[in-house]
Amino acid sequence: MNITGKTVLITGANRGIGHALVLEALRREVTRVYAGTRGGIDVSDDRVVPVVLDVTDDAQIEQAVRRVGGSLDVVINNSGIAPYDDLSNPDVIKQALAVNFFGMYKVSRAFLPMLKRARGALVNNLSLMALAPLPLTPSYAISKAAALSMTQSLRALLAGQNVSVHGVFLGPVDTDMTRGFEIPKASPECVAQGIFDGLENDEEDIFPDAMSRSIADAWRNGVAKQFERQYAGFVPASAAVWSA
Ligand SMILES: NC(=O)c1ccc[n+]([C@@H]2O[C@H](COP(=O)([O-])OP(=O)(O)OC[C@H]3O[C@@H](n4cnc5c(N)ncnc54)[C@H](OP(=O)(O)O)[C@@H]3O)[C@@H](O)[C@H]2O)c1
Repeated sequence: MNITGKTVLITGANRGIGHALVLEALRREVTRVYAGTRGGIDVSDDRVVPVVLDVTDDAQIEQAVRRVGGSLDVVINNSGIAPYDDLSNPDVIKQALAVNFFGMYKVSRAFLPMLKRARGALVNNLSLMALAPLPLTPSYAISKAAALSMTQSLRALLAGQNVSVHGVFLGPVDTDMTRGFEIPKASPECVAQGIFDGLENDEEDIFPDAMSRSIADAWRNGVAKQFERQYAGFVPASAAVWSA
């Protein structure tokens, strides 16, 4: 996919990686960026259309669909929360799933008809923690593992409907989410470039930073990927996901 001239919706667009994705999309000359936020965005460019979008709010998702109208090429599910916890409080697990898994699910489902019409792409910002948890944020890891599994299923289920589904395996990035965590981190600008490079190169799994790139080959040649491909073969070519 060449992103130039396309329309893109980015959730969690007001700060961190989402904000960097908005700027990178503009740099690549998209026609329009729908910037999903809970409180506005500080980018002044005629191509940026703010969209009120809490991904846990069904009514706001419906309104966002109406605001975008009928045409959209790319959805980037970027919104996320990463609470510190120890799995002792089920409410924290529910909250992580509500944003990181169900938010991604509901936004994907709502915009899928537009993506199908556009032969577009769904990009899900995951984490290396989808593969193994950092046990300081286990609820987050659970939600990202669930989001990875959904990404893999949707990829197979939508393969016959001309929507490509991409999972982004982000390593540590220097944003509010990792504030106070003293480890090497990639810049949001650098990973935003890596995400669009991966999308433009048709990579189904995108490794946009130095840490994630270090495991890319092992993932692509590993047993989990092998099973994913093998199981995808069981999906009938006529599968019509959310065709209503
Ligand atoms: N930073 C990292 O090291 C890292 C690593 C791996 C994966 N990721 C993933 O990358 C994505 C972006 O992370 P980030 O580092 O940019 O985080 P961030 O700086 O903390 O920003 C999080 C974004 O998500 C939005 N958000 C949170 N809850 C939301 C909700 N209910 N509805 C809509 N938007 C919501 C926030 O909006 P508000 O400003 O309104 O709160 C904010 O725009 C996340 O999915 C994260 O899991 C990040």
